[in-house]
Amino acid sequence: MKLTTRPRRLRVNEQIRSLVRETKVSIDDLVYPIFLVEGSNIKKEISTLPDNYHFSVDMLKDEINEIHSLGINSIMLFGLPKSKDAKGSEAYSDNGIVQKGIREIKSINKNIFVITDVCMCQYTDHGHCGILKKEIVSNDETLEYLSMIALSHAKAGTDMVAPSDMMDGRVAAIREKLDENGFENISIMAYSAKYASAFYGPFRAAADSTPQFGDRKTYQMDPANTDEALREAKLDIMEGADIVMVKPALSYLDIIRRIKDNYNVPVAAYNVSGEYAMIKAAINQGLADEKLIIKEVLTSIKRAGADIIITYFAKDFARWIKHKE
Ligand code: PBG
Repeated sequence: MKLTTRPRRLRVNEQIRSLVRETKVSIDDLVYPIFLVEGSNIKKEISTLPDNYHFSVDMLKDEINEIHSLGINSIMLFGLPKSKDAKGSEAYSDNGIVQKGIREIKSINKNIFVITDVCMCQYTDHGHCGILKKEIVSNDETLEYLSMIALSHAKAGTDMVAPSDMMDGRVAAIREKLDENGFENISIMAYSAKYASAFYGPFRAAADSTPQFGDRKTYQMDPANTDEALREAKLDIMEGADIVMVKPALSYLDIIRRIKDNYNVPVAAYNVSGEYAMIKAAINQGLADEKLIIKEVLTSIKRAGADIIITYFAKDFARWIKHKE
């Protein structure tokens, strides 16, 4: 048999492989999450998210400088408030932990693009993502609170808000509130297809946001569904979302691809805490090569169609790219 086509020719060495490589992850694609806590002089490793830390606002300077020197342009902020109540009032307080963090980060380096998670679960004493009526999260009442949170972030100087609550109509409500207050240039990245996933465990421990009863299945999506993800993304785009997000990433690569193929807006994917912790555990047990597996994971998310990847691996990846390893 005479072979005329030999795909292996394009794999003979790294030079040719890099010429024909279809997908390349760049530092520009990555967003790094940061967790803020009240208090001072705190930089404490998060036990469920190895190599990630709880920072008090006064300890941000070195971290932000390091992120910047690694070439990472964008961060996503989460906060643990000093107290919780039924209405999550620390979430929209001008002196809340995220609001203080935004101001501090912008004073350290105004060129770091700040994205803030808009949700209530870290701030409510019941741990649900909205205002409760009996044991149900009341959609329309919650919209007013989400809008107040987004506005308070905008006033503090955030660049983009990212509602992660999965209430119906939140993008429209937030857009209206921001525009009424002169913040028409603050963009919205909607967690559009956010699934009720078991992969959020390490984050909930890190953010102290586990619901005190029940689960989030009446607002987050059923992992079995895909058409519904398209409907969610479409609604968010119609309501004014600038970027739509799929979350988690790795078990939902098909959803990323479908959304990418159907809409012409940037798509983000959240490589969530459980995905990170699983891979870290495998690395620490010697089951996988750290650089290879992290590059493979991020490449697969980008190949599926994500333009933006929110990932706890951002600093590791940036370090290797910078040193061309
Ligand atoms: C808040 C929120 C969660 C995550 C991001 N924003 C947790 C949840 O919905 O329970 C998860 C992020 C991660 O697991 O890395 N609603």
